Order: sequence, then C-alpha cells, then structure tokens
Amino acid sequence: MKDAAPQTIYLKDYRPFGYHIDDVHLTFRLSPEATRVVARMSVRPNAAYPGAFFLHGQDLKLIWAKIDGAEVTPDVTDAGLTCDVPDAPFVWEAEVEISPATNTALEGLYMSNGMYCTQCEAEGFRKITFYPDRPDVMSVFTVRIEGDLPVLLSNGNPMGQGDGWAEWHDPWPKPAYLFALVGGDLVAHPGQFTTMSGKDVDLNIYVRPGPDEDKCAFGMEALKRSMTWDEEVYGREYDLDIFNIVAVDDFNMGAMENKGLNIFNSSCVLASPETSTDANFERIDAIIAHEYFHNWTGNRITCRDWFQLCLKEGLTVFRDQQYTGDQGSHAVKRIEDAIVLRSHQFREDNGPLAHPVRPESFIEINNFYTITVYEKGAELIGMLKRLVGDAAYYKALDLYFTRHDGQAATIEDWLKVFEDSTGRDLTQFKRWYEQAGTPRLAVTEDFKDGTYALTFTQTTPPTPGQDTKAPQVIPVAVGLMSDDGTEVLPTQVLEMTKAEQTFTFDGLAAKPVPSILRDFSAPVILQRDQTNAERAFLMAHDTDPFNRWDAGNALARDVYRRMVTEDAAPDAAYLDGIAAILRDDSLDPAFRALVLSLPSEDDMAQDLADADHIPDPTAIHHAGEALRVAMAQHLQDILPRVRADMAINGPYSPDAKSAGKRSLGNACLALLSRLDGGAAAAAQYKAADNMTMQIAALACLLKIGKGADESAAFRAQWREDRLVMDKWFGLTVSSAAPQDAAATADRLTAEPDFDMKNPNRFRAVFGALAGHAAGFHDPSGVSYRMLGDWLARLDAINPQTTARMTTAFATWKRYDSNRQAMIRTVLKGLEATPNLSRDTGEMVGRMLGDTPS
Ligand code: PHE
Ligand code: ZN
Repeated sequence: MKDAAPQTIYLKDYRPFGYHIDDVHLTFRLSPEATRVVARMSVRPNAAYPGAFFLHGQDLKLIWAKIDGAEVTPDVTDAGLTCDVPDAPFVWEAEVEISPATNTALEGLYMSNGMYCTQCEAEGFRKITFYPDRPDVMSVFTVRIEGDLPVLLSNGNPMGQGDGWAEWHDPWPKPAYLFALVGGDLVAHPGQFTTMSGKDVDLNIYVRPGPDEDKCAFGMEALKRSMTWDEEVYGREYDLDIFNIVAVDDFNMGAMENKGLNIFNSSCVLASPETSTDANFERIDAIIAHEYFHNWTGNRITCRDWFQLCLKEGLTVFRDQQYTGDQGSHAVKRIEDAIVLRSHQFREDNGPLAHPVRPESFIEINNFYTITVYEKGAELIGMLKRLVGDAAYYKALDLYFTRHDGQAATIEDWLKVFEDSTGRDLTQFKRWYEQAGTPRLAVTEDFKDGTYALTFTQTTPPTPGQDTKAPQVIPVAVGLMSDDGTEVLPTQVLEMTKAEQTFTFDGLAAKPVPSILRDFSAPVILQRDQTNAERAFLMAHDTDPFNRWDAGNALARDVYRRMVTEDAAPDAAYLDGIAAILRDDSLDPAFRALVLSLPSEDDMAQDLADADHIPDPTAIHHAGEALRVAMAQHLQDILPRVRADMAINGPYSPDAKSAGKRSLGNACLALLSRLDGGAAAAAQYKAADNMTMQIAALACLLKIGKGADESAAFRAQWREDRLVMDKWFGLTVSSAAPQDAAATADRLTAEPDFDMKNPNRFRAVFGALAGHAAGFHDPSGVSYRMLGDWLARLDAINPQTTARMTTAFATWKRYDSNRQAMIRTVLKGLEATPNLSRDTGEMVGRMLGDTPS
C-alpha cells in the first residue's frame, strides 16, 4: 500500500462521528511479528449526525470482519475501512494482524528491549485495530492479553490473570489515544496511596530486572506528592484502584498519560543520586506530576479534536509549573520557565513554524506537539488566572470539572466556564488562542506635576498565514520604585486591551523608576529605551525577584551584544551588579546562579537579528567566551568563598534548597576554571559522589579544552548505564570546539553503542550538534549536511523524531546568504528524499515556505 498525497485537516471542518461506541473488547495474542488483535464493539448510530461507518486503520492486515456475527467484506484503503452497516445498534467484530517487532516508528504497538508497549496519542491506535481513532469517540474498554510473559498490563483495574493471560477493565469512558498495553519481563517497585476520601490505591513503577530497580524510589515519592498536591490545590482525587507507571527505553516523547497506565521514557522516570543530576530530578518530578495531573485535565475531560490540544496540554503544563514552584521557589521556577519560553517559543513564533496556540489546520498532528501549544498554552492559563484573581480561578476550575467531566471539550467550553463563573467577556482574550506570534509591547513614560504616565503600544509581527493581528488583552503587572531603592507602589495588574493605551499614577513626590511586566505577567517582548544605569538599579533593588533577574539579563544582553558588534569591553555596571548579587548571602543560591548565567548563543543570534544585524555564530561564541573570562576576573576574589559556602556535607538530596546550592557552587566553578586551568574542577571530579557534581566538573574541564582523561574515565565508569551514556554523548558534542563539533558527532556515531533507532541516543548526539550554535553553523556547512543526511536516514525508521529534529533549521532566515543557501540545499534535499514521511514533509515544506499553515 502506498501513502495517499498528504491532506490538510481544518478545524472548521469538524463533524461529530456518525456512531457511538458503547463498549470495546480487545483481545491481544502477542507475538513479535504476528500479533493478533480481535476487537468487538457495540455500535449505535448517532441519530443527530448520520454518516458513513468509517474506521481508521493503518498498516493492519485484516483477517476477517463481522457484523452481528455474520462475516462482511469492508472496503479497505491505506487509511481505514468503510462498511455498509444496519441503521440500528449492532455488534462489530474484526481480527487483524500486526508486527510490533518491526515497528521502529514507536507508534502503535511496538517492542523495546523485548518488551511490548504502546503509544497511541495522537493517532497511533489505528495501527492496532480498525477503530474511530478520534478523541471525541469515548468508550469503555475491556482488554484481554494473551502472551507468555510475566507481566501483562492495560488500563483500568485488573479483572483477573493466570498463566499467560490477564484481563483489565477500565470503567471510565475514554478516547482510543489513552489506550495502553504493556507486556514483558518486568519488576514492580510498589507503593501505596490513600486518597482524601479514604480509598486505597496500589501504585507501581515497572522496570526491567537489574540496575533500574534501584532507580524507582524518587519517582514513587514524586507520584505520591503529585497525588496529594492535586487533592490539596485542585480538590481532585484519583479514580481507579491501581496506578501503574512503566519505564521504556525507546520512546519518542517524554511520557504518556494513558489512563491508569502511564508510559514513560526511562530518562523521565528513573533516577538515582549517582546517575542523575539535580536538573534530571527536577524534570522527573515535574513530568510525573504532569502525567498524573492529566488524569483530570486530559483524561476525565479530554479534547473534542486535536485542534484543542492546548486544552489539556496548556492547562496541565500550568498545573505542573505551579506544583514545581510549590516544591521550591516560585520566583526561580518563573525565571526558568521564562528563559525556556523566550529562547524556544519566541524563536518558534519568529520563524516559518509559527502557529497559534490553537492551530486551524495541520497535515500531521504529531508536528503540533510544540512549545507553543504546551508552554505558551500554559502562559494563557497564567494570564487568565492573573486577570480574574486566584479565588475566581479555582472557582472556575471547579465549574470546569463539574460541567465537563466525562466530555470531550473545546477551548470555547473552557472560556465559557470562566465567563459564566466570573461574568467577564473573554471574546478578546480568545485572540491569544487564535493569533500566532509574540506581541511586542513598547512603552514610554512621562512625569508631570506628581502624575506619572506609562504609555504602551502593542504590535504583533505577521506570521505564516496571518498578516494582520488585532490587539490582545495583556495583563501588565507594574510596580513603582523610588530612586532610593524603596517601593512606592506595590504590584498592580494593568489590563491593556487597546493597540495603544496610557495608564497614570497620581500623587507621586518624584519621578519613579518603573518595574514593568513583573513576574513575567504576559508572554510578550517588552521594548523599552532603558539605560544600563537604570537596569543596574533594578538589578540591585527591584522588589520583584523576576524583574530583578530580568534587569540583570537585559544588562547582560546589552553587554554581550556590544562585545559582538563593537568589540566593546564589558560594562562595569554589569560586572559590579553581578558581584553585588553573588556576594549577597541573603539571596537564594538558585536565584544567584540564574543571575550569573548568560543568555545562550542562540538567544544572542536572535537579539542581533532583531536589531538588524546578521548574526555571526562564531563571533558570538568568541564574545561569550571573552565575557566569561572578564566575569571570572572581576569576581575572582568572591568565587572561592561563595563556592566553599555552597559545599554540602552529608548524603546527597535532590531537594530544591540543596540543588540551588550545587547550582551556584557549579556556576562559580565554571568561572573559576577560566582562571585556574581547571585545577578546582579536576579536584571536584575526583571527589564527586553524585552525578550533579561529577558531570559539572567534567563539563567545566571540557569547556576549557581539558578533561580528556576524565572523559575517558567517565565513559569507562558508566559504559553500561544508557541514561548516563546519553549525557556523555551529548556533552562530548556540546563541549567540542566549534570547528570540531561535526567531526565529533560523526566519530560518536561509529561507537558501538550508538543506535539510531533509539531516540534518546540519536537526540543525544544530533540534538547536541543542533544546539551547539557555533558548531552547527560552522561556515563550511558541514554540520548542516551531516544533520540533513542523518535525518533522511532516520525518516525511514522514525518519522516523528525526524520531523521534530528538523526544527534545528527553523531559524535559517536569520543568517547570511551563504548559510541560507547551504541550508536551503539541505532542506530541498530532504524534501526530495524518496518516500519521505508526511511528518517530515510537512515540516520541511513549512520551513521552505511552500505551504502556509
Ligand atoms: N501527551 C503527552 C504529554 O504531554 C505527550 C505525548 C504526545 C506523548 C504524543 C507521546 C505522544 O504528557
Ligand atoms: Zn501533557
């Protein structure tokens, strides 16, 4: 069968399915290359929306099909089947054969290290059996699994099991994308939770026997913390007798919220102090929370269609961000989230892949699991909460859960809940879901006779398919400082609704210093003429921690940019500013570490492009190195003292406070290494008893061109641990000198444990190459071509991961004509690859500007 020409799907074409599926019984006879799946379902015509009986199906071998027990011959195409059916309730049955062992796309039923597992979101269930594979068709699933394996799992509650079989029943109607099955030789790390109404729930984290068994304890604690948090903060209780998590090595994404049976990329659940960094622990905690929170925001209330993806993802990301803030510091979490949003979401908004939080069309839905849908989607929830206030927000959420429980809902439903419970009109707010692009918020100030005025102007640049934009509602949190460093007006949320708008503040004795967009109150780019003296003042005195950090960041960008374009020396205001923060022991170490960190080279390339300079990645790289040396020299008297203060005695703990100390200590070490030839880093490497300290020391050494022995020792020590090896592959590429990055990646692909079929390993090498700005944009174009060649090969194996990684090229229009020409050649070459997947074809087409989306 050959793929039909790719088709564009439009939101405006949505129509409900013509049938209800009241229940589904699935029987699996597992076999690596010939698994049999029998589906039996009770079907009822949907009187309100009559339509053809079409079931999705892809790569399925139909063995037989029956209606009410009588064999039928449906019309089968490469997209599914159509069949004549009675105009009354009937029973549909069909048997298909599939081959999990040869399924390298990791979608549908596949095998990973001898274990059977599934991934159905968004449209993978159609690779398991013929079915209406759309989220608005919700049904009650009963599953029987037959296979010669010790552990056989599916969704819901266990109904029975014996030698070679198990049965599961999920009482909650769900769409097919939440279906999951696992079969393998697995070991459970058990746990237990009692819900707020006193129901006992069995918890398990399943891993393969062996070293992974010692990496489950943290994940189990994280799961229990998440369950408690959702009860306490949102009043949401778990609703089955059992909650299972399974770790899988081959997985395209981070993890999946299948009802009662979450499946995780092993990198997102397995943790131990010796093998995982603080950042890993924080991420694992957040992802476990995220998937667990989906049980209410995603599963109990799901999406009507895939255009509504942000309904579950934006809200669930917002909830996991709140959770992480509660585990440590909200200010630090906000800064971390803003860094990611600005670097990656603003970058997406600025280029050919820009799309609204709720897109209006797609070719391949897998290409829309983006930072815009997820992280900007979460920002929209945060803005709503800021606009209506905390109490009204939780009241609206209660209404959302009551009104839409058991339904497949839309963004319109979501906004209506807020309108009904607060009385607000959210018509204009909805533009945030519909208009792509990052609004620019320009501001000017005026002071006269005790009245201070701020005038804002909003504009959003055109994005593919959207030339003009209407004004959006922007919550602008503002505070006013006096020039002696005290706050004269605490934070107020100004509600900007027009293209241009002035807000005044009366009764001021002197012209204040404004602190605008506190706590990053909206995902916009603030444009302001500000002197470095004023930035330094806010960096020293702002009472809002986010803006305090942001003032320092703006200063760093200015200094960095002028080092690139004017060969300027770093501004003393910046160096003195970071010295003062570093020295201030009253400040949270995690916050101080963030103040010491510089914008990435890719961020600087974007800044330069925005200022109409064609960025030169090599020059940016060298300026960054020079700036770090200047910082180190300026701070040299303080660094050893602060680093010593951050030392922790006693056993490793991943808690936020300890992690913050290590983060600041290692930020000091990175600077110190520029002065001491790596002596301190080498000593730390030797003494380290946890991965955070060990790999930070190794990274410091590699960055200054040393550490060959340590790198070899690290490789030998951890050779058998695939998750640690992913770090080593990645670090080896990312710390290579720019001119060596491509050759380093190439050399690593020849290592015996490089396996392009494993997405984690492929991403470790090529994600690191794409993320090495100066190496990726090497003037010879060698990295572009190398990535292009590997992506063309990977596409035949795994379209989803390939398509995602093509985004490395999304910023190509920023660069000079030589680089553009070389990238165009690579993209054109990819586009011409025989049998290129729909996934990759869509991405490459959008980047080349072929199809407005
Ligand atoms: N829904 C998953 C999440 O956000 C992500 C995912 C999407 C995983 C598609 C696999 C496939 O948690
Ligand atoms: Zn999610």
